[in-house]
Amino acid sequence: MERILITGALGQLGQEFIKYFIKNNIYVLASDIRSPKNKLNCDFEVANAMDIERLDNLVKKYKINTIYHLVAILSAKGEENPFNSWKLNMESFQNIIEISITNKINKIFWPSSIAVFGTKSGLENVNQDPVLNPSTIYGISKLSGEKLISYYNNKFDLDIRSLRYPGIISFESKPGGGTTDYVMEMIESLKKGENYTCFLNKNSRLPMLYINDAVMGTIKYMSTDKIKLSVKDSYNITGFSITPLELFEKLKEIGCKGNVIYKPDFRNKIAKTWPKKIDDSFAKRDWKWKADYGLNETLKETFK
Ligand code: SER
Repeated sequence: MERILITGALGQLGQEFIKYFIKNNIYVLASDIRSPKNKLNCDFEVANAMDIERLDNLVKKYKINTIYHLVAILSAKGEENPFNSWKLNMESFQNIIEISITNKINKIFWPSSIAVFGTKSGLENVNQDPVLNPSTIYGISKLSGEKLISYYNNKFDLDIRSLRYPGIISFESKPGGGTTDYVMEMIESLKKGENYTCFLNKNSRLPMLYINDAVMGTIKYMSTDKIKLSVKDSYNITGFSITPLELFEKLKEIGCKGNVIYKPDFRNKIAKTWPKKIDDSFAKRDWKWKADYGLNETLKETFK
């Protein structure tokens, strides 16, 4: 029986994984650096992922055998203080690895990101194994994590798995500090009939994934036999690619009234180093990955 610890559980992904595990009667212990505003329907502990003793105690106390380590400072926020971002992203990762080895944790999930790619990665349609030259401290920490994953899996026979998430689109749980957050911001403003000032150029194309696909895909991947997984660091996955202008036009088509003003800032520079499209054929082949939500399906969910 799985007993799952989620770190960074109150973030965009964590909240959705909690819902999934509760719904499917899987034991989950949620932890975050702050308490939830509303009571969760699962065990919750305040814990700083930099505090290895605290994590170790929680794993022992709740007999945890699987960890979803979701703590991270995202791309745009990360650039405000690269030293802090590196410290949080990497030290918490190392802590999880260490306690996983000592407590014989069965499986660990750690999200990577499209931020690992860079200008040399063949951004028109990045394959699984391109040159990686990330431009942000977030991307550099994700790439380092990917390298450590193959190293630790090898050296300690751990089972750490990872997916390179594109921008995740969700509305009940919100992202924070990412370069792809404009999607949710634009939809929310225009839905209310308000104007939106977009921090990306109208033609910045980026890959996206609707939250339901992100959660279901991750669960499918985590339950695949290890032997079938040919990629030992992190799999490319994607839903659909869009530009701010295409999203705006779709929203107008649906009847939204607000306008979009483009004021690209430093986040547009980050976006320029990220893929326009992603080739996720390895994930499709190895563990039958398939996205169910394109832009139309995603918007349908949003305007339900
Ligand atoms: N959504 C993330 C970001 O924009 C990408 O991993 O930082």
